[in-house]
Amino acid sequence: MTAPLFIGMPGNEAMARALAQMLGGDTGQLELHAFPDGETYLRFLTDVAGRPLVIVCTLDRPDAKFLPLIFAAATARELGAAGVGLVAPYLAYMRQDRRFKPGEAVTSRQVAELLSNAFDWLVTVDPHLHRYASLGDIYRIPTRVVHAAPLISDWIRHNVGNPHIIGPDSESEQWVSAVAKDAGAPYSVLEKIRRGDRDVAISTHGLRDLGARTPVLVDDIISSGRTMIEAARVLKTIGTAAPLCVAVHGLFADDADALLLKQGARVVTANTVPHQTNAIDVAALMAAGIRELTA
Ligand code: R5P
Repeated sequence: MTAPLFIGMPGNEAMARALAQMLGGDTGQLELHAFPDGETYLRFLTDVAGRPLVIVCTLDRPDAKFLPLIFAAATARELGAAGVGLVAPYLAYMRQDRRFKPGEAVTSRQVAELLSNAFDWLVTVDPHLHRYASLGDIYRIPTRVVHAAPLISDWIRHNVGNPHIIGPDSESEQWVSAVAKDAGAPYSVLEKIRRGDRDVAISTHGLRDLGARTPVLVDDIISSGRTMIEAARVLKTIGTAAPLCVAVHGLFADDADALLLKQGARVVTANTVPHQTNAIDVAALMAAGIRELTA
């Protein structure tokens, strides 16, 4: 079988190299350039003809990444690639999964449609599935979702002496209970009300007695960071030790990372989005997902 060729879109080169190494593939090069008027120039510097191609592109801040990604997939097909898969460690546009107000775009479906047209398969890490049961509800291509929870539990077990796992809202309970069980730690779930993109209120109503344990806040995404910042702030007001904040996807809009540090929190994320807080490596997890999907 021809060895797969991995191409990392800008910022994804290290992940593309890691996956190629784990799966016995090669890495290829892409030249990308923005014309002065903002249009994209794209050229494959590696021959893709006859090769199964895997494009690696995490989709935080997705709008600027989306057109070059679609151009890359379409060009690879024109150049004769033997299939084009997408590894998106963070999959964007999963939150607008319903028309909450008349006239709204259900962007999760539209992005799924665009990616399903451009790619043959998709591998991602913990997409924000809220009202969808699975990616199959909106994607028409084979997909594989891999879960970072066991790696998070592992990291906590090895790095935190006496943890108490805390979910910032009821949505996080599925996460937090699994992480806590594997880490052999107790857990609590707080109550959150979101009034706007950057307006979140959290109550410690569901918090059990922490005793001498370290509070470890666990969530799937730190986006605006308001959830973690507010959770860290309310914990501080009741006099707990400074929390450790652990998330799979650290997007850190609006300098959220700096604001979290200001609350005295330590932050750890998985490397689905490159950031200095990355401490949990999901490459092997994604390699296993690719292997399963392309076997
Ligand atoms: C909630 O639905 C999610 O699990 C996260 O809590 C949320 O997306 C975090 O968003 P932000 O960082 O903007 O508060």
